[in-house]
Amino acid sequence: MADLPLLRIAPSILAADFAKLGEEIHAIEAAGADWIHIDVMDGHFVPNITIGPAVVKALRPHTDLPFDVHLMIAPVDPLLEAFAEAGADTLSVHPESGPHLHRTLQTIRGLGKRAGVVLNPATPVDELDHVMDMIDLILVMTVNPGFGGQKFITSQLDKIKTLRQKIDQHVAAGGGPIDLEVDGGVDPDTAPLATSAGADALVAGTAAFRGGPGAYADNISALRNAAAAGSKANR
Ligand code: DX5
Ligand code: ZN
Repeated sequence: MADLPLLRIAPSILAADFAKLGEEIHAIEAAGADWIHIDVMDGHFVPNITIGPAVVKALRPHTDLPFDVHLMIAPVDPLLEAFAEAGADTLSVHPESGPHLHRTLQTIRGLGKRAGVVLNPATPVDELDHVMDMIDLILVMTVNPGFGGQKFITSQLDKIKTLRQKIDQHVAAGGGPIDLEVDGGVDPDTAPLATSAGADALVAGTAAFRGGPGAYADNISALRNAAAAGSKANR
């Protein structure tokens, strides 16, 4: 039997205990996380405030896992360098968070980081038409950004399917690999919907951190098993 497609689980520390983020990252890494998803919010682009570059920098020595940094800040350009220097591995931006997406992606790549574009539920796929060769990751929001614990918006599944085709065509034409990540309301019920639509990376906040550190390994394996069932259905 061929291997299942690669699947990355990216717990969002938005749902961790903010009073002990270092310990939380150690615990979620030990539980099997692949990436650490860091939600950066400014109280302006989204109606909530979370963490800035100083916290990312403080967390960097606590793990070797990639930092998957989701920037929900506007304007985004002036802070890219600070997050790069703080230790981000991927910097993902919303097209709405700056006037020139192409330039923003050039800046991220120029800083030596992986570049991601995030599509809100109402943001169309064609935002990506002329930047596919400049990105390493597409993040599909299955909630409106700003808060954890929201309900998965199933209308985004068609968008994920369209993006799967778009990425596969891009790669078949000689383009570089692009991860297809889904963020918002991902749990063992919705994970297989996302992977059967073609996602290969899943963000999970509530579903990864619920129950405290003793539950993290079970939480992640429940997500992984459910997601793998969806990946099989997709083949
Ligand atoms: C929402 C964030 C998500 C959020 C996911 O703006 O981008 O990453 O933390 O949390 P859950 O998994 O609880 O929906
Ligand atoms: Zn996020």
